[in-house]
Amino acid sequence: MSDLLERLRAGLPPEALITDPDVTASYAHDMASFCEAGTPAVVVLPRTVEQVQHVMRTATALRVPVVPQGARTGLSGAANASDGCIVLSLVKMDRILEISPVDRIAVVEPGVVNAVLSRAVNEHGLYYPPDPSSWETCTIGGNIGTASGGLCCVKYGVTAEYVLGLEVVLADGRLLTTGRRTAKGVAGYDLTRLFVGSEGSLGIVVKAVLALKPQPPQQLVLAAEFPSAATACDAVCRIMERGHTPSLLELMDRTTVRAVNAMASMGLPETTEALLLCAFDTPDPSADLAAVGELCTAAGATEVVPADNPAESELLLQARRMSLTALETVKSATMIDDVCVPRSRLGAMLAGTAAIAEEYDLTIGVCAHAGDGNTHPVVCFDHQDPDESRRARESFDAIMALGLELGGTITGEHGVGVLKKEWLARELGETGVELQRSIKAAFDPLGLLNPGKLF
Ligand code: LAC
Ligand code: ZN
Repeated sequence: MSDLLERLRAGLPPEALITDPDVTASYAHDMASFCEAGTPAVVVLPRTVEQVQHVMRTATALRVPVVPQGARTGLSGAANASDGCIVLSLVKMDRILEISPVDRIAVVEPGVVNAVLSRAVNEHGLYYPPDPSSWETCTIGGNIGTASGGLCCVKYGVTAEYVLGLEVVLADGRLLTTGRRTAKGVAGYDLTRLFVGSEGSLGIVVKAVLALKPQPPQQLVLAAEFPSAATACDAVCRIMERGHTPSLLELMDRTTVRAVNAMASMGLPETTEALLLCAFDTPDPSADLAAVGELCTAAGATEVVPADNPAESELLLQARRMSLTALETVKSATMIDDVCVPRSRLGAMLAGTAAIAEEYDLTIGVCAHAGDGNTHPVVCFDHQDPDESRRARESFDAIMALGLELGGTITGEHGVGVLKKEWLARELGETGVELQRSIKAAFDPLGLLNPGKLF
């Protein structure tokens, strides 16, 4: 231990090292519940690439595990510490190095907060779409680590589609440059894409080249009330089938709507079984919303209310973004699923989830990126009740099994971490896991990077 600290100190300024156990303990967890976490030996907050290289060389020399972290807003335990590890927090590497309107790229360090980047590129008439609900606090490095999605994915896609190139410090301290800053490029294997979603298990991202879009007109949102999840899902299918491309297509069930109203008095309609939010950022959003409103009514919507202005739209988005936080107040604990199914199977997924809630006698609130088929069933339970806790875990698993049965994936955007390790193997199969392990070994032969995650 003292050897570790001594060696780390040799290449780091004193303020980059935290050893006070009360403080280091606060870096043990991300925001996932019910995931094991160990006690870090030390937390390091580097400011330069060289400092990250020094940390990795030291870790390799002493065979100490390293757990990279961003803002720890993750929901699968991927950033949880392991015993005796170095927590490598990248939050101080938070500079936007370049914004180029001609190349339509931004070059950033990993600790840049998503919303800070979004606002900075807006100043240049540009747009960085990926917008997880935690966008005001989560970092780009964390977004890359978990291949984050968000509300805009139905039109603009996920983080992976925006990462053009990376600088990565490898386990042994070497610096790897991947990808490009050009509009295209096919030189060799796509290592950039491999790092996206690798949950810090292959290397430490220290710089990213991100693709930007021209800033679209401000979006307008419509809220539609449905008497059932099935009719709301039917509306989603009709909207997509007709060739519409909304900039957002989200669903909140009754439990979620009530939880949000209880927490923040948002005035959402409480009698509705499913609230659909649909937005367009097209030149004439009102016309698009009118067409979608008709489709919603045809599918059975009882009420269709377009927002009058962007401010009202923003309020609806805020209500949606606070869904998870609100559902966390329903009972003493939650487990959040992240199953993504082909959107044609969304209705089956929601019906199956309701059946699981009934079978296990639990409250399961659902918010969903409906346009992506990505559902977040949130199992609400009393963690001090052992029987209810057991049922919660079983229902959480049953939801993933259902997702796989429907041709989906166990995680659309939150990642595997420690929460869904057993389920990754079920989704990938034996050969898939074997190959993924070989890839991990090629980058990190000593198994020092974020051990115990994914597999
Ligand atoms: C959301 C987070 C939980 O969709 O992914 O709000
Ligand atoms: Zn989500």
